[in-house]
Amino acid sequence: MPFVWDEKYRLGIPEIDRQHQTFLLLLNKAFDFYSHQLNNLDGEALRQRLLKDLSGLREFARAHFATEEALMERSDYPKLGGHRQEHAKFLEIANVLEEKISGPGAFSPTEWIDVILHWYDHHVQHIDWEMGDFLRERENL
Ligand SMILES: [Fe+2]
Ligand SMILES: [Fe+2]
Repeated sequence: MPFVWDEKYRLGIPEIDRQHQTFLLLLNKAFDFYSHQLNNLDGEALRQRLLKDLSGLREFARAHFATEEALMERSDYPKLGGHRQEHAKFLEIANVLEEKISGPGAFSPTEWIDVILHWYDHHVQHIDWEMGDFLRERENL
């Protein structure tokens, strides 16, 4: 489990914190699989596996974004628009990664994980954290 949950990610909103933990868990599961099965898969099987993992994570992220956006709407969060754009950016990043993995060029199996982890680290610690601060105060969560 190379990507460890850290208290710095905790917003204090249990539903969101649980989803953020699951997000990391999905990345870890994919990473573990690549670490142990890499030699047993041919190029095409690996490509299909990466696409499946990436698409599973994207679907989870979509549902998670909907949860956050519903909470922000309910609380009239003033930065909802910007936050939505950051979520859209994630979906664009996932599309670019998907195209890259599907394309003819070489790809490293953990590259998509690194890119997404980088997004997660920044988004949760800054964008989500600011949202959490507002929601906790507004809703007494
Ligand atoms: Fe989030
Ligand atoms: Fe968010």
